[in-house]
Amino acid sequence: MYNQQEIQSLQKFTKDFIESPHKMDLATLRKVLKFHEYQYYVLSSPLIADVEYDLLYQQLIAVEKANPHLISMDSPSQRVGNSLNNQFQTIPHLVPMLSLENSYNAEDLNDFDRKGREGALLNEITYCVEPKFDGASISLVYENDMLVRACTRGDGVAGEEITQNIKQIKSIPLSIPLSSYGIQQIEIRGEVIMSKKSFQDFNEKLQAKKLATLANPRNAASGSLRMKDPKEVAERNLDAFIYHISFYSLKENATIPALLKTHSGSLELLWNMGFRSPQKEKKVISNIAGVIEFCNDFEKERDKLPYEIDGLVIKIDDFALQEKLGMTSHHPRWAIAYKFKARQATTLLENVEFQVGRTGAVTPVAKLKSVAIGGVTVSSISMHNEEYIIEKDLRLGDTVIIERAGDVIPQIVQSIPALRKGTEKIIEFPTKCPVCDYILEKEEAEAVWRCNNPLCSAQVVEKMIHFVSKDAMDIKSFGDANIRKFYELGLLNSIPQIYQLDFDTISKLEGFGKKSVDNLKAAIEASKTQPLYRLIFGLGIRFVGETTAKTIAAQVQHILDLAKLTEEQLQGFEDVGVKVANSIYQFFHEEKNITLIQNLEALGLNMIQTNTTAVDGNLSGLNFLFTGTLTQLKRSDAEAMVEARGGHILSGVSSKLNYLVVGEDAGSKLEKAKKIATIKIITEAEFVELTKN
Ligand code: IVH
Repeated sequence: MYNQQEIQSLQKFTKDFIESPHKMDLATLRKVLKFHEYQYYVLSSPLIADVEYDLLYQQLIAVEKANPHLISMDSPSQRVGNSLNNQFQTIPHLVPMLSLENSYNAEDLNDFDRKGREGALLNEITYCVEPKFDGASISLVYENDMLVRACTRGDGVAGEEITQNIKQIKSIPLSIPLSSYGIQQIEIRGEVIMSKKSFQDFNEKLQAKKLATLANPRNAASGSLRMKDPKEVAERNLDAFIYHISFYSLKENATIPALLKTHSGSLELLWNMGFRSPQKEKKVISNIAGVIEFCNDFEKERDKLPYEIDGLVIKIDDFALQEKLGMTSHHPRWAIAYKFKARQATTLLENVEFQVGRTGAVTPVAKLKSVAIGGVTVSSISMHNEEYIIEKDLRLGDTVIIERAGDVIPQIVQSIPALRKGTEKIIEFPTKCPVCDYILEKEEAEAVWRCNNPLCSAQVVEKMIHFVSKDAMDIKSFGDANIRKFYELGLLNSIPQIYQLDFDTISKLEGFGKKSVDNLKAAIEASKTQPLYRLIFGLGIRFVGETTAKTIAAQVQHILDLAKLTEEQLQGFEDVGVKVANSIYQFFHEEKNITLIQNLEALGLNMIQTNTTAVDGNLSGLNFLFTGTLTQLKRSDAEAMVEARGGHILSGVSSKLNYLVVGEDAGSKLEKAKKIATIKIITEAEFVELTKN
């Protein structure tokens, strides 16, 4: 796209600007902005911070505002959707958008290859294999270097015009150097997708606004194409891969670009023009056996990609051969989709159970007719809260589409109302606690119904399960089942009783031999000396996770010192906001909690903050944060490594952070950290090196 000389000069303009912001001429300003959009959105390797880009962008807006006659169609400012005049007119494609035939196994692929070889009279065919992006397909038309139209697939013959929305996707260039390739007009195809990260961020935003979340990145992408307000499209942070040239016309006296002899060459040409084509992801393979092997291997790697794919597309590489084979009325004979194992399935929503958690929150859980998706049997899925059921209009007896994306927890995508028989029942949310019959309450700004009965047995049991759990007091050999069993037998009904168990009775129970009783005794005894933060976390104070527990433990000598702090003082601690401070304050001002702590102290539990930090560790005094997926270390192990060397883990990016360790698919934390010059951004490998010093 850019040659070395251009890159150098664009970087020089940027550097001069950052060092001392000054006015640039309009053409240079646009060139510089376009270059950084390309670096960021197509190459995913930004060269400047967001704030610096914003400064440049603001200058452009100011100049264009003062000189509206100078605004060009491909100015970076022209992406901004300022109109609600999306009409979605139906427009015919230059070439119909066919779909692909599907294949699911080696036999299907061998069949496809055999038909191709017979049609072409060849012994072997070379294929180009690339991801089958799971999004929404679009077609784009560029004329005289400018993007003039973007359309949905529609019925394949004609689609709806969605240019203004497509301009919100920053990896789609508004202009491309067609003329330098001798091309007058070009129609290309691609897929609009939402990366897993953008999907997660967007859903978090929806959740914060108490709005219904989106089911999966594909729905999120396809649902955005026909939005009335382009600004809403921009918020979704969409992306697009361009994988096909369906039509082009040449300028007078021009010759066909040399790369346009093969499909892989066309991907390279698209890449050179500035598109995000699967240039790096594609693989040219000289026979079908190699293709089959590649498909099998790729499926295993599927979850490592930062976006969703539902298979691979296998295309005959040679254009002349593609032409020779032609197409049926539905699909080309030169390409086939290889679909990975489905991760969606339909099943019956048979029942709903309402489970009460340790904070009293009542969660509806869908009980489904068991179904296997991607090798895992699913029979139960959380429906989160009442609004989730209402938004998705889920009814008992409904056929529902469920989905398991990678290692993500299964989700209900939607119900299928068309399959209703009339016998389905509305799901009524209980007004009373399903365990203790206490009236349920919902706070104004909350989505969950809660049982506020402190004696509710479900909460009592769940609180104890949390207290003994691995990240809290870590009482091994005290699993959920034992807690429930002891509770039902009347041997255990509060946290302090964990330390007063009647082991004579327990040793007479079935399945409790001498060895297991001794192990349990020892584990309980050992937990008494756990560091203070584990006790604080184990007490289950709302909004106090492990990191916050560590933060507040480090501020006191004795746990009850926390009861002496005001909300303002609590807010002064790292990452403790208004909500968390209020919750801690409330907890330490309730008599029953103070009594609980005093009882535990009398039973011999550690209440004192002992300085476990190795003061002379090589990371002493340094603050760390991990973001994204680590590939060599478990996150908890990496954090323990920091602490063992005297460092601290922070829960968010702030100026106090010294190192941000970046794993795969890092997102907003990385972006935030880039804006703070003092934070060192390092990879997992660099982190491991750092710990060795
Ligand atoms: S080629 C004639 N390549 O899959 C060329 N399609 O089931 C047809 N898709 O409608 C398209 N990734 O929306 C092609 N690398 C890829 C693709 C791809 C996703 C979609 C596309 C198409 C559907 C066919």
